[in-house]
Amino acid sequence: MHGEEASIFVITDGAGAVYLPAAQDHKRAGDGDTGPNTGGMGAYAPAPVVTDEILSRVKAEIVQPMLKGMKADGMPYQGVLYVGIMVTESGPKVVEFNARFGDPECQVLMKGLKGDIVPAILGAATGGLEGNEEAFEALLELDGFEPTATIVLATEGYPGSYAKGSIIRGVKSANELPGVTVFHAGTDIDEGGALVANGGRVLNVTASGETLKEAVDRAYSGVEQIDWPEGFCRRDIGWRALS
Ligand code: GLY
Repeated sequence: MHGEEASIFVITDGAGAVYLPAAQDHKRAGDGDTGPNTGGMGAYAPAPVVTDEILSRVKAEIVQPMLKGMKADGMPYQGVLYVGIMVTESGPKVVEFNARFGDPECQVLMKGLKGDIVPAILGAATGGLEGNEEAFEALLELDGFEPTATIVLATEGYPGSYAKGSIIRGVKSANELPGVTVFHAGTDIDEGGALVANGGRVLNVTASGETLKEAVDRAYSGVEQIDWPEGFCRRDIGWRALS
């Protein structure tokens, strides 16, 4: 398939479906989408490639038939459905389904959402979403969703082999910048009390703004605060939407 990939997140009780803002991940390790595939080096939302028309097609051609089919088969799907799509010349096509949020798309959604996600999650578990989608969307305050980006800081060598235990400084300063939140992924505290890298993808420097450009600039300002010589990140997160 050729086109741009996007991630669609649906909270469903098997019949009703509440859609979160579409996100776009950056799977390659290097700038310009070069280098090896990774779990994701950065993400942003909303993703303009998912226009209202594309989203309508995703709902009608992919998600509703899938929910209906699983219900008819006696195994309704309840929870968070991650639909990875490719926006091709002939419309949205499924790349993958995952029974979970995306990483790092989830960090972007949790930062950008201003409302409460718990009622929708509870509704997915206990039922009651069908016919009440607008009420749950109002609780999520989807209209107030702020453009948000996250930059993944990874250990040098990732997604190949990498060392653990290097010391990371400056996370507190990054968190003090306007609109910035640093989510931890592969971190630990060593015996001396220092924050250290303990994985491939280590930190998610996440920021919201009035525009995606402001969000990306704020996130990179956060990255500049972090003193970690053994880490690296992509420098072009959001490029498709910003170019
Ligand atoms: N960001 C890709 C994934 O979570 O699978």
